[in-house]
Amino acid sequence: MSEIKNVDYGLEKIFEGAKDFLPLLGTDYIEFYVGNAKQAAYYYKSAFGFQSYAYKGLETGCRESASYVLKQDKIRIVLTTPLNSKSSINDHIVKHGDGVKVIALWVEDATKSWKETTSRGAKSYMKPTIEKDQYGEVVRSGIYTYGETVHIFVERKNYKGVFLPGFEKWDSDFNPEPTGLKFIDHMVGNVGWNEMNMWVKFYEDVMGFVNFLSFDDKQITTEYSALMSKVMSNGNGRIKFPINEPAEGKKKSQIEEYLDFYEGPGAQHIAVATDDIITTVAKLRERGVEFLSIPPEEYYEAVPLRLEEHNHELKEDIETLKGLGILIDADEEGYLLQIFTKPVEDRPTLFFEIIQRMGARGFGAGNFKALFESIEREQAKRGTL
Ligand code: FE2
Repeated sequence: MSEIKNVDYGLEKIFEGAKDFLPLLGTDYIEFYVGNAKQAAYYYKSAFGFQSYAYKGLETGCRESASYVLKQDKIRIVLTTPLNSKSSINDHIVKHGDGVKVIALWVEDATKSWKETTSRGAKSYMKPTIEKDQYGEVVRSGIYTYGETVHIFVERKNYKGVFLPGFEKWDSDFNPEPTGLKFIDHMVGNVGWNEMNMWVKFYEDVMGFVNFLSFDDKQITTEYSALMSKVMSNGNGRIKFPINEPAEGKKKSQIEEYLDFYEGPGAQHIAVATDDIITTVAKLRERGVEFLSIPPEEYYEAVPLRLEEHNHELKEDIETLKGLGILIDADEEGYLLQIFTKPVEDRPTLFFEIIQRMGARGFGAGNFKALFESIEREQAKRGTL
């Protein structure tokens, strides 16, 4: 594992080596293309506690597609579905199933961001475009990243509307309580065999990111399967994109299973931060969110030793964490608590991670083995191991 260089989780210091020519202010929204946005919105509200926020569709004069925007603290997700067979959104759904199409990034200047990235080799998805309504204007532009996934740069400093021009505020009578999800900690992409370094270079050259952690197939391996991963970050540390590729093992890598079912590279998981993982996970479980199986007893027996090695004291009750199946990892700076959902659609593709950082800035490397063995048990049930 390479060393973390000059990292400040207070987000103000710049990662050594990162060239922040964009610069990125944060994640603006994540847009999913789905087969039935109305029902998906119900799921994310009921199960995850997202709040009704904005809407675009037939009622607002949009005849091509319907989009529901949901919000929880700083996280905004957009669920979009086509309204006719001719929409190109259909092609995306036919090929990939429900999945992430857009990882939108909040910028100061969307025109400059597009010029900086396309001049460095990015393929354009959307030229800088001004969208207006009575609340002001938003400039958006976009580039392709892995697979058919895109980054859209959003410049909203001259906009006072609820979300984007064309959207109206969505008031609903059905408003389940939030579950404590705060912001996006990181978002992981799965790419094809031997493509990880190409995408690492893309984020370095085109976006000015830096590779600050690497895991090889010796570190991320179980008896049966393996993968490799490199974590990319922008300069201020607000955007972190780990990139995974499959590695050879005795059986099929979980990354390969994803690539088979998504039919290409795409977003593998969205990690959302909470500052009270016990309450969050208890609520999510109560509302029907399905998590990977709870690790065996030996896993929790080893936890105190792992924390002691780094001189950290666990503030949470270990029995409670065990009861909820929450994983614990530690490094020099602190520890972290995390748990992974099962895929949130029938194809074994996108899933969520819930994470609470107690000083640690890693990604739970110490949990990889327990986690992957749990994923392999699911793969075996699906007949895809
Ligand atoms: Fe993660």
